[in-house]
Amino acid sequence: TNVLSVASEAVPLVKTGGLADVVGALPEALAPHGVALTTLLPGYPAVIAALGKKPKALHKWDSLLGEPARLLAGKISTHPLLVLDAPGLFAREGGLYGDVTGRDWADNWKRFAALGRAAADVAGGMVKGLTFDLMHAHDWQAGMALAYQRFAPAGPVLPSVITIHNMAFQGHYGADLFPALGLPPQAMAIDGIEYHGGISFLKAGLAAASRITTVSPTYAREIREPGFGMGLEGLIRAREGDVSGIVNGIDPAVWNPASDPALKGTYSARALAKRAANAQALEAEFGIEQGDGPLFIVISRLTWQKGMDVLLEAADHLVGIGGRLALLGSGDAALESGFHAAAARHPGKIGVRIGYDEALSHRMLGGGDAILVPSRFEPCGLTQLYGLAYGCVPVVSRTGGLADTVIDANLAARQAGVATGVQFDGVRWQTLADALTRTVQLYRDPAAWRSLQRAGMSADFSWIGSGLAYADLYRSLTVAA
Ligand code: ADP
Ligand code: GLC
Repeated sequence: TNVLSVASEAVPLVKTGGLADVVGALPEALAPHGVALTTLLPGYPAVIAALGKKPKALHKWDSLLGEPARLLAGKISTHPLLVLDAPGLFAREGGLYGDVTGRDWADNWKRFAALGRAAADVAGGMVKGLTFDLMHAHDWQAGMALAYQRFAPAGPVLPSVITIHNMAFQGHYGADLFPALGLPPQAMAIDGIEYHGGISFLKAGLAAASRITTVSPTYAREIREPGFGMGLEGLIRAREGDVSGIVNGIDPAVWNPASDPALKGTYSARALAKRAANAQALEAEFGIEQGDGPLFIVISRLTWQKGMDVLLEAADHLVGIGGRLALLGSGDAALESGFHAAAARHPGKIGVRIGYDEALSHRMLGGGDAILVPSRFEPCGLTQLYGLAYGCVPVVSRTGGLADTVIDANLAARQAGVATGVQFDGVRWQTLADALTRTVQLYRDPAAWRSLQRAGMSADFSWIGSGLAYADLYRSLTVAA
């Protein structure tokens, strides 16, 4: 089976969040099941640079939404990569979606409509020698691929899957853009791309896809409700039978404490004492004093979704009960300065690094005692999975993928020896403060704590099960087609 996977980011080339990890991991996860995934990405400077000196051009568009463009061939790790080289749209300094100040590019609609048009052309067989059995689109940036395939196909229409990594981002634009999209009038309809009088790229994809997946079973249920569906709950409910949740995996070659080159000391579940060297190094790096309470860590975008405002409010409580905190993240300016202020209030107890630092995130997981993920919603979440793998006990809100991947240390779970972390309901000061207190109590019982660490480290968070689930889904669509 040949699948065209369309997305706006993928490791190791370009990443702003977990989406990139997942898109980058899928080809390897699907290969054992006889599925060959080809990834199509926008030609941002970093992607073009990775193609080497003379990449092969497979196709040329004189005008893709008015822009000259080429389709270039390359590799992402060892897997096939297609790159939409459209310098007018993607050859610019700054972020993937906005400028250095974080403001969205004004032409994002055109950038990702062009990606969609190119994907639909490729899926329709417009490029000689490239044929696919199925198209898999990720998030709103790839939604238009399915709309173009549906309303203005370049050839045979392929079965399709869209994966929602985050309902909060939908790609909404004004109806005035419609003529520029090059779609027939019937596309601008309630079961097409129209959304409250405007245009929604995510809705366009959800309405067109043969199947809809999201990145955990709990989030798949949650998005039927207004608070989580963010306006698209009606569509999700109407298509309920076509919606399912497949949890993300993590790459065991990258996230493995027994072989992690970023760590001062590598370790396994049987040799947890070796974490001590990492803990000391981490304390030194963050200017945190040694203590007999747990060292909490955070590796996160600093946003409302992630509950970081509530954590900031609970920071004094965290210190008051003997905890310490090392935080790595970037995002909202108010949260960044808020955490700086908390660190200034609690010298030696709270350390803060504003920025993005992959190697530091590994060192934190290898030395921290507990990782905090107090998200208001979390489609899947990856950092709690890293925490499980590293014996850095996850403390999470009971939502989305956090609910599906962590087993709360309640009485029954502890007696059965299966607990892997701490969960709490509803992201408020009180619920988080209670969870922090409970975590400190567990930490002060070394046998109980070790049991949490060991159970987490032996849990299966590889791509094996989820790779199979995607393969089965693809197969059900291509066999039926
Ligand atoms: P989301 O995609 O919503 O941000 P995920 O948990 O799915 O959440 O993925 C976030 C990814 O980004 C993880 O791989 C995490 O380690 C990484 N990450 C987030 N913030 C930072 C940071 N400041 N430094 C290093 N890695 C980070
Ligand atoms: C989104 C979600 C996150 C998920 C990631 C990868 O960024 O916020 O929960 O893990 O996508 O699917």
